[in-house]
Amino acid sequence: MTRRAAITGYPVSHSRSPLIHNHWLALHGIDGSYERIAVAPDEAHCFYESLGDQGLVGCNVTVPNKEVAAEVCATLDEAARAMGAVNLLWVEGDGRVHGANTDGFGFLGNLDQMAPGWDNDLREAVVLGAGGAARAIVWALLSRGVKTVTIVNRTRSKAEELCARFGADSKVADWGEVADLLGSAGLLVNTTSLGMQGQPPLEIDLSALPVSALVTDAVYAPLETPLLAAARARGNPVVDGLGMLLHQAVPSFERWFGVRPQVTEDLRNLLLADL
Ligand code: ATR
Repeated sequence: MTRRAAITGYPVSHSRSPLIHNHWLALHGIDGSYERIAVAPDEAHCFYESLGDQGLVGCNVTVPNKEVAAEVCATLDEAARAMGAVNLLWVEGDGRVHGANTDGFGFLGNLDQMAPGWDNDLREAVVLGAGGAARAIVWALLSRGVKTVTIVNRTRSKAEELCARFGADSKVADWGEVADLLGSAGLLVNTTSLGMQGQPPLEIDLSALPVSALVTDAVYAPLETPLLAAARARGNPVVDGLGMLLHQAVPSFERWFGVRPQVTEDLRNLLLADL
């Protein structure tokens, strides 16, 4: 019987996840499907609770349902528990729904592939933004043993909330302090929407940033954001954000279809053609 999975959220029409999973399904000759299902917030709890009854082996969850979907799960993996949010659900034989969060895994998998050794001796990271992407990335960095993660956000209170969630090893700074903070940073991550197609660029003074520091962006459209272009021009190593999207899909595919897929150049090119 065809194993059905889906991306769920509201809206889901923009999601590129079907491209990724359908590529892997074809590549591995698996009898499966991956579709888009719009799940409005007022029907979300009911939908996720009865996931098995929808004929799905599982689903991905995107904005704005990541928190409500976590509430219906019989178990959550460590990342989902720490973040209070899921992006992966699956149904087990007894009909119970289980959840995980693979966004942090996606962030780490991207850097591990594109900049091997990036975390050797990494002591300080600066994360710009305090939304959903930042939540996953701060968790990922702390779980990798980065000593200090400084969160900087336009709305300081949101950075403080995020910091409180993860405790002692993260701290908060004001947007106006970024240029000074960069002097001791080994990694700079943009998680804000600045630099995305149709948004203003992210303009920060990089002059204090060591040229050895890695710069990465959760924004992947365009692939080379103004931040990455500025960092590259002064000699910093840079990693674009497309790989985070690709790598976060790996554990989902493996969970539903039983094969661990690879993030290849072919897959990147497929996504690039769609940006
Ligand atoms: P995501 O799930 O992609 O993280 P989000 O949760 O909507 O998206 O978070 C968007 C982030 O971009 C937030 O940190 C937001 O800052 P605020 O918390 O102050 O809103 C940041 N952001 C969006 N537009 C911005 C702008 N013009 N200047 C600075 N930060 C901005």
